[in-house]
Amino acid sequence: MADSLAIAILAAGKGTRMRSSLPKVLHRLSGLTLVENVLASTAGMNPTRKLAIVGYEAAQVKDALAHVEGIEFVEQTEQLGTGHAVQQVIPALEGFEGNLLVLNGDVPLLKPETIESMLKTHTDNGNAATILTAQMDDPTGYGRVFCDENLIVQEIIEHRDCTEAQRKNNRTNAGIYCFNWSALMTILPHLKSDNDQNEYYLTDVIKDLSPVMAMDTSPAEVAGINNRKQLSEAEAVMQRRIKDALMLSGVTLINAESITIDSTVTVEPDVIIEPQTNLRGNSVIKAGCRIGPGALVENSTIGENTLLVHSMVTDSAIAAGGRIGPFAHIRGQAQVAENCRIGNFVEIKKSTIGANSNMAHLSYLGDAELGAQVNVGAGTITANYDGKYKHKTVLGDRVKTGANTTLVAPITIGEDVTIAAGSTLTKDVAPDCLALTRSPQKTIPGWKPRYIREDSQP
Ligand code: UD1
Ligand code: CA
Repeated sequence: MADSLAIAILAAGKGTRMRSSLPKVLHRLSGLTLVENVLASTAGMNPTRKLAIVGYEAAQVKDALAHVEGIEFVEQTEQLGTGHAVQQVIPALEGFEGNLLVLNGDVPLLKPETIESMLKTHTDNGNAATILTAQMDDPTGYGRVFCDENLIVQEIIEHRDCTEAQRKNNRTNAGIYCFNWSALMTILPHLKSDNDQNEYYLTDVIKDLSPVMAMDTSPAEVAGINNRKQLSEAEAVMQRRIKDALMLSGVTLINAESITIDSTVTVEPDVIIEPQTNLRGNSVIKAGCRIGPGALVENSTIGENTLLVHSMVTDSAIAAGGRIGPFAHIRGQAQVAENCRIGNFVEIKKSTIGANSNMAHLSYLGDAELGAQVNVGAGTITANYDGKYKHKTVLGDRVKTGANTTLVAPITIGEDVTIAAGSTLTKDVAPDCLALTRSPQKTIPGWKPRYIREDSQP
C-alpha cells in the first residue's frame, strides 16, 4: 500500500515586502489567490489530510479557502518562522504515519507533475526528506541548498545567513518539501531560532535528517512571490502557460500579449479572441465565438457563435448567436436568449431577454423580463427604481417600443403591443394595443424669434 500523504500549506505570514494590507497569499495570480494556485499544484493527488496554516488575517484566508474540500485550518497566532509554522500541525497530526508534503503558500507556479515526481523520488529512495530545488541565474533572497554530486543534501542556509562564498551557490530551496513524518518528528520540536531573523526556520531540520535528496526543477516553476514585482513576473509566466495551452487546443488569439485569461476560464475550440480582451473568473466561451477587440467577460457564459465587440459582460449568460456591442454593458445575472442583438450603448442589468430580440441603440433595461422577438427602440429606458425599491418591467413577445420610450415600473406590456415614440408609460397595456402618451404637437406659422421681431420695429 502506498504511504499515506498529508499536505501542509504555509499561509500564515503577512508578506511585509508586498506592502499591502491584504495577506500575501490572498494576492491574485491569473484569477486565483496565490494560495489557491499552490493548492491547484496538488491536483490529482489524494492526500488523507489537507492542512492550511493561517495566522495573519486568518479569518480572511480561511474565507478564501473555505470552498476547498476537506481543508483543515491550523492557527499560528504569532508568525515566528516557517519551522514554527510547521510545528503548529504537530497536534493535528498526532498518530499520523506517512509523508508530509509542505508547500509555501507563496510559490504559485508549480506544476502537479513536478510535485508528483518529487514524491516518487522520495518514496523510491526511502528518503527522510526530499526537497525541490532550482539552479537560478539570480538566486538572491532564496535559501541555498548544499549537496553532493548525487544530490544528497547536507544543509540549507538562508541567503542572509550565507557567507559571500556560500552565496555563489546558485542551487536554491523552492520551499517545497516532502518529509517522512516520523523522521521529521524527531527534529521539528527541537528547532532553535539562533539566526539573523531570530526565527524558527523549517530549513534548519535538513542538516539533522538523513538521507535528504534534492530534486532540481525549472527556476520559473519555483519562483516565490515576495513583492509585487515578482507577482507581476509570475503573472506573465502563468499567462503564457494558459494561452499556450488554449492555442494548442484550437483557440486563436490575435496579439496574444494584449489578452489576459484567468486559469479558471474555459474557452472552447474555434473561438477567436481579438486584442485587448480580458476573460475572468468562471467564464465559459463556447465554440465559434469571436470575442473582442476590447471585451471584458467575467463570471459569464457566452453561447456558441456569438460576436462580442468592445463590451463588458459580468455575472451573466448570453445564449448562442448573439451580436453584442460595440459598447454594451450586460451585468447582474442578466440572461440573454439565442440570437439577440444588443448594440451600441445598451446596458442590461438583472433582466431576461427572450430569443431573437433586438436592442440596437442607447437603452437601459433593469429588472426587466422580455419575451421573444421584442424590438427595443433607441433610447428606451426602464425607470425601475423609485429611490428605495426596484420594480419589474415585463414586455410580452413581439412588443415594439418606439424611440425614447420610458417604462415606469412596475409595469406589464402585453404581447404584440406597439409603443409610440416618446411615450412615458405608467400603466399596464393589454396585448395587441398601440400605447402612446404624447402632448399634441403645436405648429405656429410664420413665427420668428423675439430678437428678430424687435429689431424690425421702427
Ligand atoms: C523561504 C525559505 C527559503 C526558500 C524560500 C522559497 C525558510 C526559512 N526559508 O524563505 O529557504 O528559498 O522560502 O520561496 O523557510 N510563513 C508562515 N508562518 C511564518 C512565516 C512564514 O506561515 O511564521 C509562510 C508565509 O506565509 C509564506 C511561506 O511561509 O507563504 C514562506 O515564508 P517567507 O517569509 O516568504 O519565506 P522566505 O523568506 O521566502
Ligand atoms: Ca517567500
